[in-house]
Amino acid sequence: MSTKKKVVVTGGLGYIGSHTVVELMQQGLEVVIIDNLCNSSVHILSQIEEIVGEKPVFYQIDLVDISAVREVFEKEDVDSVIHFAAHLLVNESVVDPLKYYRNNLVSLINLLEVMNEFSVEKLLFSSSCTVYGDTKQVPVTEETPVFKASSPYGTTKIMGEQIIEDVVNSSSTLKSVLLRYFNPVGAHSSGKIGELSIGKPSHLFPIISQAIESESVFKVFGKDYQTPDGTPVRDYIHVQDLASAHVAALQHMEKSSCSIDAFNIGTGNGFSVLEIIREFENISKKKLHVTFEERREGDVEKIWADSNKAKEKLNWTPRFSLEEMVRSCLVWENYRSSKEW
Ligand code: WQD
Repeated sequence: MSTKKKVVVTGGLGYIGSHTVVELMQQGLEVVIIDNLCNSSVHILSQIEEIVGEKPVFYQIDLVDISAVREVFEKEDVDSVIHFAAHLLVNESVVDPLKYYRNNLVSLINLLEVMNEFSVEKLLFSSSCTVYGDTKQVPVTEETPVFKASSPYGTTKIMGEQIIEDVVNSSSTLKSVLLRYFNPVGAHSSGKIGELSIGKPSHLFPIISQAIESESVFKVFGKDYQTPDGTPVRDYIHVQDLASAHVAALQHMEKSSCSIDAFNIGTGNGFSVLEIIREFENISKKKLHVTFEERREGDVEKIWADSNKAKEKLNWTPRFSLEEMVRSCLVWENYRSSKEW
């Protein structure tokens, strides 16, 4: 029985990473965070401490610097790794693909090399539904063809999965689970952590929430899609449900003899942009000023998950409703805007 029980969480001060760190620590696991703070704040550490009662170990390093990564594994007795750290904006990746290929792929390759040097044998990889591209087969299962993604961001996830699969197949001990997230939204029920996009928000929920608060115009990117109301459909999943899926996947890896497996982590429900706007207006009791613009480069028309495989094999079920996703987002945005990060 390995005495190593530490989980390295790369990007652990980020949005999904911080919620997963809280979940892991509440399950009694010891966490070591690696984060370069490019899209998070060191203040999140004390926020995590306020929720859990203790502060996780934190190294501010960039995964593209392999010697810095090696130093962490020399100092810490690592049992497994959850790899979140990556640039993740679909539309930004279209504008600056090399930023995405360099950061997302070099980071992963460095991590795999150092894991091999230190015989760390379990890797949970933060993948994405963007690997399915603009598929017309919805809901998507894990067998839905993974082919040309609709953005360089999605391509780094496809390449990342392939790199991991090849390394797992070349190893007799490495195991990996690939979690394909749909659209992570909402914030922790404590109200102390949430999506802290540094600079301008880039995802739907924080943008709507800030537009409601500031009574500014919200731009809908496209109303001519083949969907019931013409706006794109997505599978929005509460970030705490996403976090619990990581704990379930880690426990699954402990027991499973399967060397590599992929799981869709979504709710199985699709909502359009206009439906999300209506939910925000109902809960905030405020009207949103909306304009309709051209489609956004890299956007897909509609995608939502068939997540039965995760429910059955990971014994995981999403618990939070759309109302709780929206409400927790509004509460967090109000708290976030009142603090200096
Ligand atoms: C959602 C919808 C926009 C802003 C995200 C992440 C990616 C991946 C998948 C995990 C789209 C529309 C948005 C606005 C709008 N997640 N929109 N006006 O693009 O589906 O991808 O989830 O890996 O990391 O980027 O999410 O929140 O950017 O957009 O109309 O001002 O909202 O067109 O249809 P997306 P999003």
